[in-house]
Amino acid sequence: MALSTGSNKIKTAVFISGAGSNLKNLIKFSNLKKSPISIDLIISDNLKADGLNYGKVFKIKRKIFNFKNKNKTEEKVISELKKDKINLICLAGFMKVLSKNFIKKFKGKILNIHPSLLPKYKGLNTHQRAIENNEKFSGCTVHYVNSKLDSGKIILQKKVIIKKNETQKSLAKKILTQEHKLYPKAVLKIFSL
Ligand code: GRF
Repeated sequence: MALSTGSNKIKTAVFISGAGSNLKNLIKFSNLKKSPISIDLIISDNLKADGLNYGKVFKIKRKIFNFKNKNKTEEKVISELKKDKINLICLAGFMKVLSKNFIKKFKGKILNIHPSLLPKYKGLNTHQRAIENNEKFSGCTVHYVNSKLDSGKIILQKKVIIKKNETQKSLAKKILTQEHKLYPKAVLKIFSL
């Protein structure tokens, strides 16, 4: 994909459920001249997601959907994405699993960040499982989303060391710092190919 500049940036939606630190970081990145993307829409499945505040601060459109009826909600989400001519979706701490149908419609255009060195530790509680298994390393992965959970093609990974006295909290913090560097790098990588 070609690198876009200025107002021709690739219109991107970020999907969140919680704190939104990756969202905040992607917004900051998107405001840099070198960024190929602009963040034009924030989708949340959680009305109380703290990350929604970044939409307010940075004046980005926010939409909240409860996903109780997944098919109907996804139809509404798709129509929002179409309305705003969204061409890239970045999942960033989004806790709902998108349907195969949704993923098919945006094939190759959905990215996710996951707090483990995939293919190890797909799904939830990655830090706890890595520590319990006495892993020496963990990390984070940015990957394309396909129909299998956390299994799409890997774009970039970053390794971190798990120390002897590491706690879930300290590991999560260490990995999150790396996530904030990795997601923009991965976006740059895919659009400069
Ligand atoms: C991150 O660790 C991300 O990898 C995982 O959920 C966390 C979201 O953090 N999927 P935040 O909401 O971006 O702060």
